[in-house]
Amino acid sequence: MTTAATSLSRDSGAPSVGFVGWRGMVGSVLMQRMQDEDDFRFINPVFFSTSNAGGAAPSFADGSSKLEDAYDVDTLAKLKIIVTAQGGDYTAEVYPKLRDAGWGGLWIDAASTLRMEKDSIIVLDPVNRDVIDTGLARGVKDFIGGNCTVSCMLMGLGGLFRNGLVEWGTSMTYQAASGGGARHMRELLNQFGAIHGSVAPNLEDPASAILDIDRSVLAQQRNPAMDSSQFGVPLAGSLIPWVDADLGNGQSKEEWKTGAETNKILGLDLADGAQIPFDGLCIRIGAMRSHSQALTLKLTEDLPVQEIEQIIDQDNEWATVIPNTKEASIERLTPVAATGTLEIPVGRIRKLEMGPEYISAFTVGDQLLWGAAEPLRRMLLIATGNL
Ligand code: HSE
Repeated sequence: MTTAATSLSRDSGAPSVGFVGWRGMVGSVLMQRMQDEDDFRFINPVFFSTSNAGGAAPSFADGSSKLEDAYDVDTLAKLKIIVTAQGGDYTAEVYPKLRDAGWGGLWIDAASTLRMEKDSIIVLDPVNRDVIDTGLARGVKDFIGGNCTVSCMLMGLGGLFRNGLVEWGTSMTYQAASGGGARHMRELLNQFGAIHGSVAPNLEDPASAILDIDRSVLAQQRNPAMDSSQFGVPLAGSLIPWVDADLGNGQSKEEWKTGAETNKILGLDLADGAQIPFDGLCIRIGAMRSHSQALTLKLTEDLPVQEIEQIIDQDNEWATVIPNTKEASIERLTPVAATGTLEIPVGRIRKLEMGPEYISAFTVGDQLLWGAAEPLRRMLLIATGNL
């Protein structure tokens, strides 16, 4: 193991890469994926901390032995690449200082702060490798992970978009607690526990009346003493039909991202008239970490369902068509089935009554993998010439 100083200056040919926010939920998933894929062999990692500079760096990668200060612009500026999952406030504070200091390295970020900047690229290489490569060639330096729902949707249905087959679309989402953060996941579980606790004795008695149990559940959900400080209202046994900020025009920020980010990822944002209208409602449900969405697409052509399925299935190695049967759908097209895997199951594909160009689809993706950590991990490989 080397010291921070040698890690920053050693010339093994491998680039020095700084990691900020590697201990949070997205950062931890990223670190795990990098270890699983042995990615640290390509780089000299330097680990930063916003609260524990000088503390011990993690032992899982052969890099610096102590944590550097994540607010120390001079140290950050020695790196060729910085990967951050620290969050938007950190980006807003540190990124401008680094660029003002003349830093010309690559900034790979999970936060949304820089996503829609005209000089940034939203990374999702199985869908937009061409946009990334063109950007790198013309000197783009900011590579930002996309919104989780948008990334998971495009991983599943990218084939239809990339073949110019989508005239417009709507997505109705079923977003997991993890999208809010680690504390939201804990709150959901605590709520489930409190609700169960309030009716446990009655539940054990098969002769108890279900309507009495239901009344007790509702009383517990409406009890102000039950913690709902993260979500604002109870989520367990309910849902929340609004995700992210209120834009004041009836649309949530999450819903705005659907269209804006989809078009930017596909590289259609700047071309006049090329944008694909994409909008819908974003809903929080009591799943743990996989986001699901029900889609209605108007295709540009009347294609047979079998051909549509082939285009989706063959687009990338992770999109997997699930047969549109009850058995396959309930087994393989759920958050429980998708969580912890990189597979993006896409099912419920059928023609709708509205006409032969209208199809439905339902897709699920792990919000912390393709929805957050995986596109960043792969961008680092691309940036270092290893993918
Ligand atoms: N905004 C998303 C959510 C999370 O709240 O589910 C990350 O993109």
